[in-house]
Amino acid sequence: MAKVTVVGAGNVGATCANVLATREVCSELVLLDIKEGVAEGKILDMYQCATLMDFDTNMVGVTNDYAATAGSDVVVITSGMPRKPGMTREELIGVNAGIVKSVATEILKHSPNAILVIVSNPMDPMAYLTLKATGLPKNRVVGLGGALDSARFKCYLAKALGVNSNDIEGMVIGGHGDTTMIPLISKASVKGVPVTQLCKDKAVLDKVAADTMVGGATLTKLLGTSAWYAPGAASASVVEAIVRDQKKIIPACVYLEGEYGQKDICIGVPTVIGRNGAERVVELELTAEEKELFEKSAEAVRKTNAILTEIKAL
Ligand code: LAC
Repeated sequence: MAKVTVVGAGNVGATCANVLATREVCSELVLLDIKEGVAEGKILDMYQCATLMDFDTNMVGVTNDYAATAGSDVVVITSGMPRKPGMTREELIGVNAGIVKSVATEILKHSPNAILVIVSNPMDPMAYLTLKATGLPKNRVVGLGGALDSARFKCYLAKALGVNSNDIEGMVIGGHGDTTMIPLISKASVKGVPVTQLCKDKAVLDKVAADTMVGGATLTKLLGTSAWYAPGAASASVVEAIVRDQKKIIPACVYLEGEYGQKDICIGVPTVIGRNGAERVVELELTAEEKELFEKSAEAVRKTNAILTEIKAL
């Protein structure tokens, strides 16, 4: 069984740790935060649920003690600032780039073989930065995003169609941004039946896509900070796919070398996730409209990536 570290005991990191603990995904779980006592407190609180929820996971919370993370197989990086209402994820780049880079560097000193799951925003540039700054092979840097956006897509589809969200297949590709994500309506289905067949009203499906794209912003407005239950659970689902070698096809932010016509970029595409991290990109046949949207999305992600050089993070 695996050792997993979650860096950042904020809302998303702590929720991810809680899901990993309750689902007994790993044999050892470390939660690390820079704020004195926070990770320790959250882990103790979770431990006190063990007898109530019948789970048994060895876990420890630490304050900035990277030695405790040594030998981790998977490390989830959630460090940095979340967005406030009205902010885009991209606006966080100046604050979060330095944090993510130093966390990744520190982690690899103690866990040279770890697979890194990047959650901090803006997620696509943070995954790119991590990959470039650490020199890790591309399979070992997996950005969240698509797993979360696809869960939100299925939620909105279920509501619009009046069906159980667990019966829905659906993916969101492209960047993890309010204007860069691409919910693939053409490929979404309910028990194999295309949603375009179940719902002939294009306006309804267009609204599902639009709601999905601003899914995070809607929650940020309601909550006053960014969401955590679905982001935490989505991060844990990626960790679980790695630890249990599930070979699940998850839309993840990975480094492309020609796939989908893109190079030198980390962006969301369907990826087989297993013990070796991002094991294989699955190339879907996109419609002409989806292809165009993907190109635009990549262009926007590249623009944000360029800021990494401007601010000397790369
Ligand atoms: C969201 C943040 C975590 O979409 O990016 O909720």
